[in-house]
Amino acid sequence: MYIAMVSAECAPIAKAGGLGDFVQGLSRELVRRGETVEVFLPNYDVLRLESMTGLHEVYADLPVPFHDQRLTCRVLSGELAGVRCLFIDPRPPCDFFRRGRIYGEADDPERFAWFARAVLEFMLRSGRQPDILHCQDWHTGLVPVLLFELYQALGLRHTRVCFTLHNLGYQGQVGEHILRQVGLDPSRLMVPERLRDPQDSRLANLLKGGIVYANFVNTVSPRYAWEIQNTEQGMGLQPLLKIHAHKFGGVLNGIDDQVWNPESDPLIPANFGLETLPRKALNRQALRQRLGLQDADKPILAIISRLDDQKGVDLMTHGIHYALAHDSQVVLLGTALDPAIAERFARLKQATGANPDCHLELGYDETLAHLIYAGADLLLIPSRYEPCGLTQMIAMNYGVVPIVRRVGGLADTVFDANYSDQPFEVRNGYVFDDMTDAGLESAMTRALGLWRGYPEYFRQLRVNGMRTDLSWRIPAQQYLDIYTHIRSQPA
Ligand code: ADP
Ligand code: GLC
Repeated sequence: MYIAMVSAECAPIAKAGGLGDFVQGLSRELVRRGETVEVFLPNYDVLRLESMTGLHEVYADLPVPFHDQRLTCRVLSGELAGVRCLFIDPRPPCDFFRRGRIYGEADDPERFAWFARAVLEFMLRSGRQPDILHCQDWHTGLVPVLLFELYQALGLRHTRVCFTLHNLGYQGQVGEHILRQVGLDPSRLMVPERLRDPQDSRLANLLKGGIVYANFVNTVSPRYAWEIQNTEQGMGLQPLLKIHAHKFGGVLNGIDDQVWNPESDPLIPANFGLETLPRKALNRQALRQRLGLQDADKPILAIISRLDDQKGVDLMTHGIHYALAHDSQVVLLGTALDPAIAERFARLKQATGANPDCHLELGYDETLAHLIYAGADLLLIPSRYEPCGLTQMIAMNYGVVPIVRRVGGLADTVFDANYSDQPFEVRNGYVFDDMTDAGLESAMTRALGLWRGYPEYFRQLRVNGMRTDLSWRIPAQQYLDIYTHIRSQPA
């Protein structure tokens, strides 16, 4: 099968969060199984190309209709661990992807709408006929719309679309002029059963466009699939998802066990596995040294996260104070796009700066993230909502015990040490329900208590997590089943 992944992110070259890991991990597993995969990405000026080989131009001057102008782009191709990546690079003076970052620009709707059209234009002109277009999040919501409104009639006849929802908090609500810019007819599309936003009838909703037009829609955990159909987590899209329930489901993410494997991870000082778990202590020591924490008989509670309302920043702050007050050390690695949240964590960093048990690193640092997973004992994820969440899964691979709120993919992957209905061998963490300080404390007290009072049980929880198969093997098969199913559908 020829699968074209279209995405705003792919780790490690363009990663802002779990979407990047998803595209990298799933693509690699599909290639391992003999499928042909090409990943289509914008040619950002911030691409980290060290791991890319054979980068070369495959298309010099591709005119892409945009409004009444034609923006020309070139297309580059390179290999990333066996997966081919294609980069859409608009020619100057267009500076869509020369902004020093992936997201957060005022013209994100134009940037990604144009990218969607450029990908399809390139497929048509280069004679590509993917069996499957696998599109991610609102940035690519226009791909299925453009395919079935324009490009199918132009020749992309047998391509079918799988559209994956990674986060309903971002839906791409845009003015209808964006549709006109990419050559679509707003009078046809701005109706409730197509792209009209359910909350604001003046806007087009690009995520909704993807849901309506794709042949299959899924989200990244079964629990989040249920939540967004049945609770306010659907953020206004519950009725739409109900209408399309016949082509909607949840597939739990995996993690790439070549990237996130403590036995072979080149970014950590001491490799370890189930048989060599005591070596984890060497990483704990290295982490303390690197971050200037004192050497003490205390567990290290880590947070590795976007600092965002979704991730429960209030509870994170409470968790940090609570851990420090209860004989623990705290390490946080995080970035905030919201200036108020950034300011708040900057103040917290200042306030805890002299504490030898606490280090807050405000920034994005892939290498440090690996060291923290390798050295930490507990990972805190108090999310308000969580489509899947990868950090709890990565943590488990590294023998770190997660403390999570029972929501979305966290509920599907973390089973409480005391209260889960799962057998003891699969219990792997601590879970709480209430989005309150008391809720969080109920889980933290038990976790810290076990670490201090019952080290053998705590070790068993680490082992249970490390034993779980969190790889892409099962989910990749589920995606292949979806692809096979939609390939056989008539247009
Ligand atoms: P989301 O995609 O919602 O941010 P996930 O849990 O799915 O959350 O994925 C987060 C990914 O980003 C993980 O690979 C995590 O290790 C990584 N990550 C998050 N924040 C940072 C950071 N500040 N520095 C390095 N890696 C980070
Ligand atoms: C999003 C979600 C996260 C998920 C990731 C990859 O960023 O917030 O929960 O793990 O996508 O699917």
